[in-house]
Amino acid sequence: MPAGKPLIDVLTGRIPSRRPIWLMRQAGRYLPEYREVRAYAGSFLCLCDDAKLASEVTLQPLRRYDLDAAIVFADILLIARALGSNLDFREGEGPVLTPIRSEAAVDDLASAVDLGRLTAVFETLALVKKTLASHQTLIGFCGGPWTVASYMIEGGSSEDRLVARQIAIRRPDWFKELMRRLVEGSIDYLAAQVTAGAEVLQIFDSWAGDLPETLQEELIFEPVQAIIAGVRKRVKTVPVIGFARGLGAAHCGFAMKCDLAGVSVEQSVPLAWVRSVLMPRISVQGNLDPLILSIGGEALDRAVRRITALLPAHSHIFNLGHGVRPETPPEHVARLVEAVRQADGAGGG
Ligand code: CP3
Repeated sequence: MPAGKPLIDVLTGRIPSRRPIWLMRQAGRYLPEYREVRAYAGSFLCLCDDAKLASEVTLQPLRRYDLDAAIVFADILLIARALGSNLDFREGEGPVLTPIRSEAAVDDLASAVDLGRLTAVFETLALVKKTLASHQTLIGFCGGPWTVASYMIEGGSSEDRLVARQIAIRRPDWFKELMRRLVEGSIDYLAAQVTAGAEVLQIFDSWAGDLPETLQEELIFEPVQAIIAGVRKRVKTVPVIGFARGLGAAHCGFAMKCDLAGVSVEQSVPLAWVRSVLMPRISVQGNLDPLILSIGGEALDRAVRRITALLPAHSHIFNLGHGVRPETPPEHVARLVEAVRQADGAGGG
């Protein structure tokens, strides 16, 4: 394998030895070996809280596929628990939290995150770091404050984040205080992840696309920018990828305002626009449709050829537009990685 880390090279403006590829949710239920460790752990949270098991599942996809990065196995909602929320993950239901619906409920949260409740994440990073090959990059992450706040207010997954969106507009007083605590907590959390070994950070603002343009500045750009600036004050410069899913044309303003090293885009973002508007300014990650990965075959090969032909390898990180779907056959991921390597080997890079 050539020297250098392709993912870091693309994010820092150097020419990578090859187009980096990793996948959001690359560790997870689509892998039988994950399901086995998950069953052994008993619950998703027990798995996150056990650094040995979490590092094992972090590494599983790297054993199967020639990927350029590992993303620490954790969840964006662990920070809610470290702020004092009750957090549970129920089978078939997803996350469950005590809904935050009042100023008093925000006041009841801890004023700062308890990093002691996140030690398994730091230990996992340290364990994984030791075993990575020299070309592989270790990614740490947190959720965007808007996305995490929406789960905390709703009390779990919801179809459209309606209550959270109403509260953001009707109750800015305490809603802003919740956002402020998440920003400060995310700075502490990410800085500690870098200290533990994370080389690149990704901020997942999965529900950014819920918001009208008039709220994007205050609820997406400013909080993410504040987190990145805060982390930079604490630790050495670390490249940050922003994934504000669903922003469409607003990805450009998001990337510029937050001073990102890379911007991750969902599958609906047109590649011609990515190439002509985003790429001259910033490296771009994405944006294969996770559904096409689960379907595989000729549809997958075609989609890979199109992305690799349209986006030059030196400013592109191959990834999905969202996470790997649980029903994805693992062989399709092998085929994807091979197809990306082949396309570039054939002059696509
Ligand atoms: O490989 C990786 O990407 C690393 C681990 C990772 C997980 N969650 C593990 C996980 C990462 C980066 C996340 C991020 C995350 N978590 C996001 C942002 C990305 C996105 O998907 O939009 C969000 C919104 C969450 C919150 C969350 N976690 C939900 C809504 C759920 C339930 C729904 C679901 O997908 O199961 C989870 C659970 C979760 N997080 C699982 C995994 C592997 C499945 C849990 C299980 O094994 O039962």
